[in-house]
Amino acid sequence: MIATTTTFASSPLFLIAAAVVLHNSTPLLSTTAAALSVDYYSTRCPSAETTVKIAVRHALTADPTLAAALLRLHFHDCFIQGCDASVLIDSTEENTAEKESPLNKSLRGYELVDAVKLVLEEACPGLVSCADILAMAARDAVFFAGGPGYEIAKGRKDGRRSRIEDAVKLPQPGFNVSDLLTLFGRHGFSTRDLVALAGGHTLGVARCSSFKNRLTHFDAAHQVDPSMNSHFAGTLTQICRLGDDTPVPFGYSPVTFDNDYFILLQMGKGLLFSDQELLSGSQTTTGEIVNAYAANEAMFFVDFQQAMVKMGLLDVKGDDEGEVRVNCRRVN
Ligand code: HEM
Ligand SMILES: *[C@@H]1O[C@H](CO)[C@@H](O)[C@H](O)[C@H]1NC(C)=O
Ligand SMILES: *[C@@H]1O[C@H](CO)[C@@H](O)[C@H](O)[C@H]1NC(C)=O
Repeated sequence: MIATTTTFASSPLFLIAAAVVLHNSTPLLSTTAAALSVDYYSTRCPSAETTVKIAVRHALTADPTLAAALLRLHFHDCFIQGCDASVLIDSTEENTAEKESPLNKSLRGYELVDAVKLVLEEACPGLVSCADILAMAARDAVFFAGGPGYEIAKGRKDGRRSRIEDAVKLPQPGFNVSDLLTLFGRHGFSTRDLVALAGGHTLGVARCSSFKNRLTHFDAAHQVDPSMNSHFAGTLTQICRLGDDTPVPFGYSPVTFDNDYFILLQMGKGLLFSDQELLSGSQTTTGEIVNAYAANEAMFFVDFQQAMVKMGLLDVKGDDEGEVRVNCRRVN
């Protein structure tokens, strides 16, 4: 369970974390005493939060597409081995790291994390973990892209393991809605959390290789995936003639955080099979939530921030299980 310091216990985050613990049988939540709190750095390293915020804002001014990259890095980190910055580790001669997996598909944002880490090691050596930097950067990226602003607990420790084979724990674009519910459920997420988190696809792009199987020879009975809008399928087929790596935005704008992802699903314009499954799959509940978020952006924002707080607590490592890395790409 998550140990609660006074500060954490008196914060709204505690209530959310407590609700997570009480309402789910969450086998993958950390069982060690990782003492997280919202103001973890306020005495230890007062410049930590602002350093990340300023760096993210500057980086997004130069390249707004980094918002998507930072959000996705944090998601991949938390789903593999818990939120412990394992996604940042480079391979060595003896170890092939998780970032080498084909599922790493175009992960970006490492340089921003490195830059922040450099500044914070100067200001407060050995205190600010790479996992916390990632969590804060993802949170700030969402906010600067127009999404909700929210507080997160800090105090994560960095892990010492990063292996390519662990990347099988990531969801795949070919997953149907029951696959998605099973995987997210195993991490303690509700149906509502799943749909809210999938809304992270309001930012960013997918490359044609991630969805082109829906455009030709989909199955024995269909050339094109019948859940895809046929005009949209025609447009994608044209675009993807340019090659497998051609990026296509999930939403109307890949740099703006809003509820357009859900509105597009209603039109049969979800890019990934797993996206469209939330509406057209065998599960009616996910479809109802998609419709609710498409009609009510504020509801999506509230649910998204709660689900992100929950995701940021996945298998968090305590003092005895982790370290504060000096260089985010290498264990100490
Ligand atoms: C529900 C299961 C999910 C599946 C199957 C999935 C799969 C994918 C795939 C295949 C891509 C495109 C990769 C490429 O073609 O290069 C992608 C991109 C992305 N994913 Fe997900 N994802 C899922 C959930 C999430 C969650 C929970 C988040 C964050 C909250 C997220 C955030 C993103 C972002 C922001 C991008 C765009 C990255 C960029 O433009 O650089 N995804 N995802
Ligand atoms: C992602 O994996 C591919 C191999 O599948 C590798 O060539 C590439 O360097 C990896 N990307 C990163 C950022 O490590
Ligand atoms: C979902 O996909 C899995 C394989 O990944 C399959 O076993 C299952 O029958 C599918 N479920 C539905 C409802 O289509």
